[in-house]
Amino acid sequence: MRVLVLNGPNLNLLGTREPDVYGDTTLEDLEGLIEGWGAGLGIETLFSQSNHEGELVDAIHRADGVDGLIINPGALTHTSRSIGDAISSVGLPAVEVHISNVRQREPWRAISLVGPSCVRTIFGRGIGGYQDALRHLQNRAATPFETVGYGPHSDNVGDIRRPDGEVAGLVVLIHGGLWRQEYERDSTETLAVDLTDRGYITWNIEYRRGRQGSWPAPAHDVVSAMDFIAREMPGVPTGIMGHSAGGHLGLWAAGRRTDDIRLFVGLAPITDLAAMARAGGVGSRDAQSLLDSGAPPALDPIDGRTLLVHDETDEIVPVSHSTRLSTGSRTEVVTGLGHFPVLDPKREHWPLVVAELGKALV
Ligand code: DQA
Repeated sequence: MRVLVLNGPNLNLLGTREPDVYGDTTLEDLEGLIEGWGAGLGIETLFSQSNHEGELVDAIHRADGVDGLIINPGALTHTSRSIGDAISSVGLPAVEVHISNVRQREPWRAISLVGPSCVRTIFGRGIGGYQDALRHLQNRAATPFETVGYGPHSDNVGDIRRPDGEVAGLVVLIHGGLWRQEYERDSTETLAVDLTDRGYITWNIEYRRGRQGSWPAPAHDVVSAMDFIAREMPGVPTGIMGHSAGGHLGLWAAGRRTDDIRLFVGLAPITDLAAMARAGGVGSRDAQSLLDSGAPPALDPIDGRTLLVHDETDEIVPVSHSTRLSTGSRTEVVTGLGHFPVLDPKREHWPLVVAELGKALV
């Protein structure tokens, strides 16, 4: 796979330009990082930067021989119709990336004229957003999927991937990201692709987060998404897999549907909001605000049907979130994985997860 990475006006000044907003990595270093991330995924990357709208349009027109685009149009995001038109004209899948959280700055930055021509917009994740964009382009190319709405809100959507042959079961995937708007379901996509290759239908869901997402909105959405898929695919043995904050939502939802859920898999799950709020570290403010809106503080496992995988050195969600539940669940404490690599099906914990799903979803 080949991907063209385009950066727009003022991004040549990365490193010195408003480092408190955009960080201190230079464009040259960023391109080096992206090249390495691409190589790790087997993606060849090409780069271009321009401060001029027409040159960006020309670069998009010249992009033959590439399979996808990643574009940070800078301030042209908010003014340029021609860049969006250029993307639509060449018909390549494009991911729009913004280093900063454009939805939490001046209101005009929240408006993108380029976004509607792109397959996804990633914002507010720092330069890591470019890595996520590469992974997303690769996952979209890997397995066909259908994005389906399960409710009235724009976040009430999910991606269904269907295996080619016999169906081994259905797995509902719930992404994490501390209920913040900038973290979306692309993080659980690599697992969805892997599980679909293994014969599972996957339902990788979005849910309300951020300002729209105080309790019970995300919980309501997860339960609605589960009801929706059960109606669409009645009788298919179902498991739920949640990462981090998605683990909290998944465990909560599994507890409401104990008859139907064969296995809950928590990958570095948050299970105790009160402890997270008290700890004062990453996510403590998010946890407190959910508690303030009425979220359940601490959750119980679904007896005999809970598998938790957690790295003992996880610095974002401490392992105690899983070990506190070890009497009612199979709790696998692992080392050297960290918080995000549990989302990588190439890592050492995955065969165990797959084996447990295979036993439970029969
Ligand atoms: C940006 C956000 C834009 O609003 C701004 O004009 C930029 C950079 C970002 O990466 O966060 O130049 O696209």
